[in-house]
Amino acid sequence: MTDKKFYITTPIYYPSDYLHIGHCYCTIAADTMARYKKIMGYDVYFLTGTDEHGEKIQRKAEEAKTTPKEYVDNIVDATKKLWKRLHIDYSHYIRTTDDYHERRVQNIFKQLYDKGYIYKGSYKGLYCVSDEAFFTESQVVKKDDGKCYCPDCEKELEYKEEECYYLKLSEFGDWLINYYKEHPEFLEPKERQNEMLKNFLLPGLEDLAVTRKGLNWGIPCPIDNEHSIYVWIDALSNYITALGYSEEDELYKKYWPCDVHFVGKEIVRFHAIIWPIMLKMLDIPLPKKVFGHGWVLFDDGKKMSKSRGNVVDPNTLIDKYGVDALRYFLMREINFGVDGFYSQELFLKRINSDLANDYGNLWHRISSMLGRYFNGVLPEEVESVYSDRERELKKAVLTLDANVESALDSFKFQEALFNIWEVIKMVNKYVEESAPWNLAKDETKKDHLANVMYISCQAYYI
Ligand code: MSP
Repeated sequence: MTDKKFYITTPIYYPSDYLHIGHCYCTIAADTMARYKKIMGYDVYFLTGTDEHGEKIQRKAEEAKTTPKEYVDNIVDATKKLWKRLHIDYSHYIRTTDDYHERRVQNIFKQLYDKGYIYKGSYKGLYCVSDEAFFTESQVVKKDDGKCYCPDCEKELEYKEEECYYLKLSEFGDWLINYYKEHPEFLEPKERQNEMLKNFLLPGLEDLAVTRKGLNWGIPCPIDNEHSIYVWIDALSNYITALGYSEEDELYKKYWPCDVHFVGKEIVRFHAIIWPIMLKMLDIPLPKKVFGHGWVLFDDGKKMSKSRGNVVDPNTLIDKYGVDALRYFLMREINFGVDGFYSQELFLKRINSDLANDYGNLWHRISSMLGRYFNGVLPEEVESVYSDRERELKKAVLTLDANVESALDSFKFQEALFNIWEVIKMVNKYVEESAPWNLAKDETKKDHLANVMYISCQAYYI
């Protein structure tokens, strides 16, 4: 048993539709990280799941003439199959409709209420049904038709006024500003902190509506049966209810606080503002880090999203090119902290040049030469005939681990792969320049040929 533990999460996805490669992106990154930490000897807990309540799901189910539960069951089924195809090795898949989650969220809500952090009021504002979020006047997009549109999905917003319960976020603004100062590692990349400060914290935090009236597809509010718990308390709590909080403590004691929450940039504000304040109110230690990654954009610069209808189905890509190609592309092409592009052209270019040419060809060349010159048996190396270039290559290969580790420890997947491919390119160049096919013609160069094969095969293997 190891006492090194690593707890990593993805957001829980809305099962309002089948997932696209934008969702795969974060899940693959988290899986990559989880695998890396396991290799490094950590006891890893990797959580993912689905965020299944809310008006949007209810409407979607109505349109599909089915019940919300049946509707989400179908998408969850497809999501689990997709994760299996993508070799996503999660520890637990949480559904916010799971009994244990619903009960534990009610406990959490009740605790917040009993501590005096929840009060009754009424909400007036512009609401996006699609994203299930209220927006302030300054956040909405105003168009020439005089109407207000959602800054995230660009759909028309509705004006709503209703009775609801509020969470006293406003009391914790100064505390959070200070927390960011004392824990600069809490929210990364650094620019996200500036966004949070500038857009929300410095102008003054507003209290958060945490219940909805007349929402049937939600967790019943434990203190008022006319209300349901509104999305964010329900959704964010998943990171602790999955571990048993507040009913069982074995997993919770072992893995909490979380090492890192991976989240897309548009939900950073929920994870870096509401979530730490909720935890502070509950006297629970904060996660060590929230990492806000960028979006996978279409090559026209638009975010890939269900509501825009411009999504790429990962299953089609896997059918055609295989899992590794998709995993590799997403981790190599896009710098995790900022937006990046997907297009069929970029995808093909990347997998052809890196996987087929650099990596695949290298193995094809050295394995066939090993067969031809040494009957497929790797020869011993002959130290005495090492050239400077060989020593340099050996050094690059042997320091690669450390470079990759330092990149992955700061979630730089692109850099880790870049470093690996630099070495692959070096090996290709080495084979090219050493020209084993010429060495093989000369009996006196047999030792050198053995070295070339040994070094290329070991470099490839490592
Ligand atoms: N249910 C909430 C999250 C609750 S977490 C306590 C939610 N769901 S979502 O399905 O809309 O989005 C889930 C995640 O997918 C977000 O982090 C979002 O950024 C990510 N992505 C959705 N489309 C994406 C891209 N095109 N590119 C990268 N990530 C994207 O928000």
